[in-house]
Amino acid sequence: MSEARKILVTSALPYANGSIHLGHLVEYIQTDIWVRFQKLRGHDCTYVCADDAHGTAIMLKAEQLGLTPEQQIANVKAEHERDFADFFVNFDNFHSTHSEENREYSELIYGRLKENGHIASRKITQAYDPEKELFLADRYIKGSCPKCKAEDQYGDNCEACGATYSPSELINPKSMISGATPIDKESEHFFFQLSEFDGFLKEWTRSGTLQPEVANKLAEWLDAGLQDWDISRDAPYFGFEIPGETGKYFYVWLDAPIGYMASFKNLCDRTDGLEFDEYWNKDSKTELYHFIGKDIVNFHALFWPAILKSANYRTPTKVCVHGFLTVNGKKMSKSRGTFINARTYLDHLNPEYLRYYFAAKLGGNIDDLDLNLEDFIQRVNSDLVGKVVNIASRTAKFVQKAGGNLSTNIADEALWQQFVDASDVITDHYEARDFGKAMREVMALADAANEYIAAKAPWSLAKQEGTEQEVLDICTQGINMFRALLTYLKPVLPELSKKAEAFLGETLTWDKAPSFRTGDAINKFKPLLIRIEKDKVNAMVDASKEALAAAAPQGENNTGGCNSDDKSELDRAPLADEISFDDFAKVDLRIALIKDAQHVEGADKLLQLTLDLGGETRNVFSGIKSAYKPEELVGKLTVMVANLAPRKMKFGLSEGMVLAAGPGKKEIYLLEPHSGAKPGQRVM
Ligand code: MSP
Ligand code: ZN
Repeated sequence: MSEARKILVTSALPYANGSIHLGHLVEYIQTDIWVRFQKLRGHDCTYVCADDAHGTAIMLKAEQLGLTPEQQIANVKAEHERDFADFFVNFDNFHSTHSEENREYSELIYGRLKENGHIASRKITQAYDPEKELFLADRYIKGSCPKCKAEDQYGDNCEACGATYSPSELINPKSMISGATPIDKESEHFFFQLSEFDGFLKEWTRSGTLQPEVANKLAEWLDAGLQDWDISRDAPYFGFEIPGETGKYFYVWLDAPIGYMASFKNLCDRTDGLEFDEYWNKDSKTELYHFIGKDIVNFHALFWPAILKSANYRTPTKVCVHGFLTVNGKKMSKSRGTFINARTYLDHLNPEYLRYYFAAKLGGNIDDLDLNLEDFIQRVNSDLVGKVVNIASRTAKFVQKAGGNLSTNIADEALWQQFVDASDVITDHYEARDFGKAMREVMALADAANEYIAAKAPWSLAKQEGTEQEVLDICTQGINMFRALLTYLKPVLPELSKKAEAFLGETLTWDKAPSFRTGDAINKFKPLLIRIEKDKVNAMVDASKEALAAAAPQGENNTGGCNSDDKSELDRAPLADEISFDDFAKVDLRIALIKDAQHVEGADKLLQLTLDLGGETRNVFSGIKSAYKPEELVGKLTVMVANLAPRKMKFGLSEGMVLAAGPGKKEIYLLEPHSGAKPGQRVM
């Protein structure tokens, strides 16, 4: 093998206000597999992470629980570390952004940005909660849409009509924290002048640092022109105070990525031979990989490299972006029991089942990844139990019977050569983070191994006289194939590999996999893995439904909606004024059949629906694009307001409104009547 590479790897820092769930684990398991692979190959690979401990959301969460922010983040950190350890996510260090190292580097870097003239300050006017005495981010304000008057809309956009506006334009705006009416208030803010880095970023994003689909997306933003980035927040805030200012704090997203450095520094300080500067200096020869979800690309592929550049540090070798987890084809949902916390999973199932399933589905791209629970059971049982483990369980006992030592012959050289040749191919797939292809290679080998054993049928052969050597040769071949497969699977299945190592009496290393082991003794075979039982999966889903009440809101500016389910506590709007029955009866609600659904060109939020009201057809524009694909709606029944005055919109005339519930974004649920309902029937 070539010289050992020095690689520093990070996963995004989870917010310290909520539990780890299976969506997060797509990232941490993916990164851990890659790191284990690099280590197994003999490279010098270091994996660091931390909790992202700052920001308004965490401050409010602590307050709600009656804790200090410090207590809150300590509790969550302990919980996160337990969850990760139990999924075999093996960080070399797990630190916190609320740490002395992070304060030091945040101040240092901010100082350099300032010295270089990349920080501007100016006064801005923002919504302010006069009761809570707190500036309000847009998502903490709700009111009625200034355009269509829909109630209960967030501060910056209307999910009913798709309008965008500023919070000050909302009708009857309310702070979601205190219920008070926000006022406008001015304060000074500090801005990082990102546009200075336009040329640098255009080049950097195209220099092999990003997947092509990510680079393309960023090119759109870069072409649209970069805005200054507001990196300060006013007190009260849980974070680091900006040096030289009073009552001004670094915005959580400024110090969060610096947390990667801080965690690494913390590790360097107690590890001989690990030098911070060697990894972060401008002309560093080491590699730096950040694994992140697609919702936080702008922070990692625009702001972060620009900051590093200005502060005279090296920039990342690669930012590896992955998609979002869906369960059974839909966004994770508490009501369906598919919003599954790491701990709930662990209470019912073996973590390696999930590690394998994710590996089998990860392609090193930004596509969303679906955990289909039926497929999960089927795939794990068939691949791991039915194919891989089966090879050892069908052959080990004959080696034992022959005295426990392997044969000195290779029974089928050509077949073994397939296992040797696969090594490079599998290595390349792992390196490219295309674990799905690596797993398919491994399973193809497992199929070949099983076919060989089935054809040779050592169990029948053993009943005949004088076949001892032949049986031992066949089973030695079986054990060697098993040994190679478990080596190739070791980054994904560390625990199963450990059990296999006990059975084989050796440590599995990548370079040994292609060498055929002969002559020496193996240990007694014990069952390695049991099948997934459907009952356990069902119990996990049921338990996830029960965990609904324990929801936690997520952090700031997380645009991906990975946890939008978790907004629940802040989300329930106060009830509207009472109405009379006559008022209610004025609304003519009808069952409608969705005959067609189309994207609307130029509209971010709208779908165009063609609704059948039992003979009459209506054209309705609905702001549900974030939650539904048009094709999944066609043929479904829903409920519409049929006597709403038609409204002229930018894209055409909307003749009514469909009814839906949920906080918005991916969490919008169209009402769906029982299948017996008929289009045109009145809903009472
Ligand atoms: N705190 C920020 C990251 C700061 S990094 C300097 C954050 N935290 S998070 O807890 O919301 O998410 C952590 C990681 O998990 C992110 O990379 C995010 O994309 C990923 N995921 C969170 N939910 C996810 C899914 N449902 N599916 C896949 N990945 C998801 O963002
Ligand atoms: Zn509106």
